[in-house]
Amino acid sequence: MDSTRHSGRVVVVTGGGHGIGAATVRRFLDEGASVVAADVNPKGLQRLSDEFDDRLVTRVTDVTDEAAVRDLVDAAVAAFGRLDTMVNNAGAITMGTVVDVEPADWRRIMAVNLDAVYFGSRAAIPHLIATGGNIVNTASISGLAGNYGLVAYCAAKGAVVNLTRNMAIDHARQGIRVNSVCPGPVNTHPGGMMDHPNMKPVYEHNIPMGRVGEPAEIASVIAFLASDDASFITGHNLVADGGLTAHTGEPNFTDLYAEEFRAAQRAR
Ligand SMILES: NC(=O)c1ccc[n+]([C@@H]2O[C@H](COP(=O)([O-])OP(=O)(O)OC[C@H]3O[C@@H](n4cnc5c(N)ncnc54)[C@H](O)[C@@H]3O)[C@@H](O)[C@H]2O)c1
Repeated sequence: MDSTRHSGRVVVVTGGGHGIGAATVRRFLDEGASVVAADVNPKGLQRLSDEFDDRLVTRVTDVTDEAAVRDLVDAAVAAFGRLDTMVNNAGAITMGTVVDVEPADWRRIMAVNLDAVYFGSRAAIPHLIATGGNIVNTASISGLAGNYGLVAYCAAKGAVVNLTRNMAIDHARQGIRVNSVCPGPVNTHPGGMMDHPNMKPVYEHNIPMGRVGEPAEIASVIAFLASDDASFITGHNLVADGGLTAHTGEPNFTDLYAEEFRAAQRAR
């Protein structure tokens, strides 16, 4: 890691109090940036403030409230004098098919995952024009294909993927880059669903790399996309999923035909 790659830069991270967002706050601080971490839940923000007193401002913000998001971005510029990167990361999930998901829940999922990216980008872009800055959205592999029983989340993340492309082309000539990271399963809640004894083996089996990701492995991708190392990348939805979406979903032919496969190899 280059501890100076983001020196002098100012970054806002939404959903910065926990999981991928908190790892992203740490990563940018480690790479020299000043960071404003925003979250609706003050607990995680407090943990970060206890740990870092320099170059970090925390702010309780509900990203579904456009005025609050505008205040957040203005507060970042007031605190540090500029804005270089807006990380629209906050997200929420609900289970269900279109038949199961109630309209209020559908709206909530759209508000947190999609409207918030629109609000954050809308507030940030005038400041990013001044710095030649960039936006990184946390989308998901659930924005690239469907997941059984996750219809609202997949619809919202699919929209984030295309919003990323559209903002990239609209603002490229203003010197702004817009990208997203599309994580696969990431262990943000140890002891939660991905650690459940029934689920862990399924994840390990289905993911070619044999494990779920860690928040820091997504934070590093966000920091890369925000950096000059990605200076010619815009409109890209970068998958970080241990190979999960590289797979067609067909059976593992190597396992199924292991004997025949080995016999054929021996015969060669
Ligand atoms: N963990 C995964 O497997 C995974 C996979 C793909 C994409 N993602 C995406 O990564 C992003 C971060 O998720 P995570 O896994 O770190 O989850 P997380 O639950 O660890 O963190 C999400 C954070 O967002 C905050 N948040 C929720 N609603 C908010 C609101 N209205 N305003 C402000 N903050 C709000 C929460 O308080 C929490 O701190 C999300 O966009 C999520 O959809 C996660």
